[in-house]
Amino acid sequence: MREKIENLLDIKAGIDLGGGAKRIEKQHNSGKMTARERINSLLDEDSFVEIDKFVEHRSTNFDMTNTEAPADGVVTGYGTVDGRLIFVYAQDFTVVGGSLGEMHANKICKVQDMAVKMGVPIVGFNDSGGARIQEGVDALSGYGKIFYRNTIASGVIPQISVIMGPCAGGAVYSPSLTDFTFMVDKTSMMFITGPQVIKSVTGEEVTQEELGGASTHNKVSGVAHFIDKTELECIERIKELLSFLPSNNLEVSPIYDTNDYINRVEDKLNEIVPDNPNKPYDMKEVIGLLADEGKFFELQSLYAQNILTGYIRLNGKTIGVVANQPRVLAGCLDINASDKAGRFIRTCDAFNIPLLSLVDVPGFLPGTDQEYGGIIRHGAKMLYAFSEATVPKVTLIIRKAYGGAYLAMCSKDLGADQVFAWPNSEIAVMGPEGAANIIFKNDINTSNDPIQIRKEKIEEYRDTVANPYIAAQRGFVDDILVPSTTRPRLISAFDMLESKRENRPKKKHGNLPV
Ligand code: HXC
Repeated sequence: MREKIENLLDIKAGIDLGGGAKRIEKQHNSGKMTARERINSLLDEDSFVEIDKFVEHRSTNFDMTNTEAPADGVVTGYGTVDGRLIFVYAQDFTVVGGSLGEMHANKICKVQDMAVKMGVPIVGFNDSGGARIQEGVDALSGYGKIFYRNTIASGVIPQISVIMGPCAGGAVYSPSLTDFTFMVDKTSMMFITGPQVIKSVTGEEVTQEELGGASTHNKVSGVAHFIDKTELECIERIKELLSFLPSNNLEVSPIYDTNDYINRVEDKLNEIVPDNPNKPYDMKEVIGLLADEGKFFELQSLYAQNILTGYIRLNGKTIGVVANQPRVLAGCLDINASDKAGRFIRTCDAFNIPLLSLVDVPGFLPGTDQEYGGIIRHGAKMLYAFSEATVPKVTLIIRKAYGGAYLAMCSKDLGADQVFAWPNSEIAVMGPEGAANIIFKNDINTSNDPIQIRKEKIEEYRDTVANPYIAAQRGFVDDILVPSTTRPRLISAFDMLESKRENRPKKKHGNLPV
């Protein structure tokens, strides 16, 4: 037995070395950790339990018969983060370039299935040359099985994808089917077709980094949710994200002790909105003043910055925040903002995270770019997502709430459970400037002093229609708040809504305008 134990330990130690010291050194020299180092950095100390360490590929094509592939290029198992169980897999680039063959895929599928059965999150580290070329259709089938499981698990358990190296070709679709995608600056890349293929097909020249680096996917495409400078920083952020999420769709997020006061009154909120309705301010500051300890965990912070999405805690409980950002495009809704918010709202709803909508929106962004790009169907995603969401929904109108955008930010009619407004709010079909031009056209055109009369009519419109009192008289706004008292009122509203139940007609699934 002793001999056998020693032999077992030797085999295990050999597998732990992955592709060997030389390839590990290459990995380190390029600013990357190994698969096992990544897993150990994510999980609580000594909590990792490996599964399928002895799995080997079965390919005999080309040189594969003689190719050793420890753990078949992917480390899989489970462990805890902050004491909570999660499943994990990490592709090992030092083993056949982390490429995915039949058995490699089977290992990932096994932890996907187990995570769903146990009702806990799964985190996947992607660092791979893609489909293992030698394994042909078996490799393609492997990806198909993973995509299928990503879809079945969607809305059941949180799925987190971490790109820490190449992720190319169809392989990119697994991250895109999951809830959150993390990337590391300069060392991770995602693209469907690489620079060489692009050059041969279209003649376009582009570098890998420009095409599919972390910056591109965080700023331009919106494919990724987070960018970090180093792998360790990225892993710390994954842990923080997990702290906001429940383990599955039947649970609520963990509640954390807070040193902040429930009844904190913030006088600064009374001054934060400028008197001039066209002057911007930073909505992040408002969020910070409302949140426990001022903390806002933002998602997609570089993409569609005219809308903010992320998590805060109110009295220790996770709340999903969707907020217009007046500093960017005056807070207008456009195609990218609608996509970003729509997806976020549905993620929150799937995982029982109450929603807070902070409204200062002058409308949808006008222009042919937006119309030709389909702002109608993209904007519809927000209306759909807010209407569909059955979690507690609280809306706070901070300044402007005009037209369709007023509805799209979760008005009473879209099912907001509580709607509050600050006294300076302007709730109307459109902004006073545009409205005055239309309904007072004759008065302005026939006046001796059209500039002056227009100014007066704008004021008249603002005083008569664009205020929160008419909406409050009709019950569209439940209360008009002194801004400084907003935090305690929000906490009280979400506490009151905790037992909310809302039944909808049974259906296979809705037809979201994707
Ligand atoms: C088999 C692969 C591989 C692959 C890399 N390797 N990718 N083996 N199948 N897909 C092997 C290499 O042969 C090499 O083996 C080792 O991994 C490390 O690769 P290098 O090329 O030396 O590393 P590097 O210079 O860092 O380049 C990394 C790379 C490059 C950019 C990822 O390897 C590359 O372009 N690979 C092919 C990418 C690709 O076209 N994949 C298919 C995509 S299509 P040795 O033994 O020399 O160390 C796809 C379809 C999925 O994935 C469809 C799903 C529906």
